[in-house]
Amino acid sequence: MSQTIAEVRSRRVWDSRGRPTVEVEVTTDALISGRAIAPAGASRGSAEATDLRDGGTSLGGLDVIRAVANVQERIAPALIGLAVDDQAAVDAVLDSLDPTPTRSDLGGNATVATSLAVLHTAARAVGVPTWRYLGTPISMPRPEVQVIGGGAHAAMRVDIQDFMVVPLSAATVADAFVQVAEVYLSVGELFRQRGPVLGVADEGGHWPAVASTEEAIELLTAGIARTGLVPGVDVSISLDIAASEFENEGRYRLATEGRTYDRDEWLSVVERWVDAYPIVAVEDPAGEFDPTGMVQATKSLGDRALVVGDDYLVTNAERVTAAARDGACNTALIKVNQAGTVTGTKAAFDAARLAGWSTIVSARSGESEDVSVAHLAVGWGADIVKVGSITRGERTAKWNELIRIDEELGGLPLAPLAVSAAASSAQGHRAPC
Ligand code: PGA
Ligand code: ZN
Repeated sequence: MSQTIAEVRSRRVWDSRGRPTVEVEVTTDALISGRAIAPAGASRGSAEATDLRDGGTSLGGLDVIRAVANVQERIAPALIGLAVDDQAAVDAVLDSLDPTPTRSDLGGNATVATSLAVLHTAARAVGVPTWRYLGTPISMPRPEVQVIGGGAHAAMRVDIQDFMVVPLSAATVADAFVQVAEVYLSVGELFRQRGPVLGVADEGGHWPAVASTEEAIELLTAGIARTGLVPGVDVSISLDIAASEFENEGRYRLATEGRTYDRDEWLSVVERWVDAYPIVAVEDPAGEFDPTGMVQATKSLGDRALVVGDDYLVTNAERVTAAARDGACNTALIKVNQAGTVTGTKAAFDAARLAGWSTIVSARSGESEDVSVAHLAVGWGADIVKVGSITRGERTAKWNELIRIDEELGGLPLAPLAVSAAASSAQGHRAPC
């Protein structure tokens, strides 16, 4: 007999940007509890579930009193008595309470915290960790880790958002983090040699004291090489271009460089980077309203790089299926708060798998100690997991959870990468320093 949901409580807690967010705690009739905290994005797709914020002057208008109240007053009464292990039924209730496409009534922050809290409680009710409740992993998701932060996470100090590394030669998650940490330290040292260090961006990556995007890519490549690791062989690069932040009607304006490109010019810049540096993945290379650009990027880069849709797909199964039909993207970024429920997120994940795509389960720039993302990535068997840099507690909470899970699994191999790093590094790499 399944345990049933006896209580759903919510409260205001705080995220890594010092902003209020929603925590939900679910308790069953057998007094088993689980909880989850809603994350929050800064560079959001316009079609994703939105957080309900109170507006007004207090806390910059970002308070979540209404979202917390929605859990307490509207969601809780509708869930009490449901089987805690019937995630689909729970999420269907959330869908019916707020059928708006962006969850603007209840708030995506209210629904995602509730949905995840139910998932964790269901796992605890049968005495297993959430990852094991979700599946039987045969590999570990490969970490994709930010080393330099930019874009909306660093006041647009450099236009593109994430300069990340993807370990290639490491056999396990534990080994991968040794490589990542070496690179993080090495790039920090390069920044120090160039002048005063300006701190870290929202996800803990080095603040980009650079004159151009390409300089940041060069620095990252050099930072890998000076550790003794071979760029493109031991460690490769992944960029979240987050182009929606600087695209307008098919034109791409790079403020740092003071240049505007038309679509073709811009995509040829990205293509040149992919061919000149050991880049294995580019996320949102074109803006969310530039499907032609996304198709074009996939056509020109898809044979040697993961072309990842984030703002473009917003963790929506229909969008994933349509993009696959159109030839846009070959990889889906999966963020549970873009969909607003676990069931909606899994549907997008499954649609990506069905299309033969790779999958990246991702955290947001606004995070907390919540480690749901590590459990989803392992339990669902994602290819890659993305949670920001290797610094700051809200990031290390997830990475360290991944290490613990892997230890319990006896050290599984990392999931294979769908693109050959050799293809993207065929032309060799310059190390400027
Ligand atoms: P966000 O960005 O969480 O600030 O929206 C993360 C990403 O674009 O992947
Ligand atoms: Zn992104």
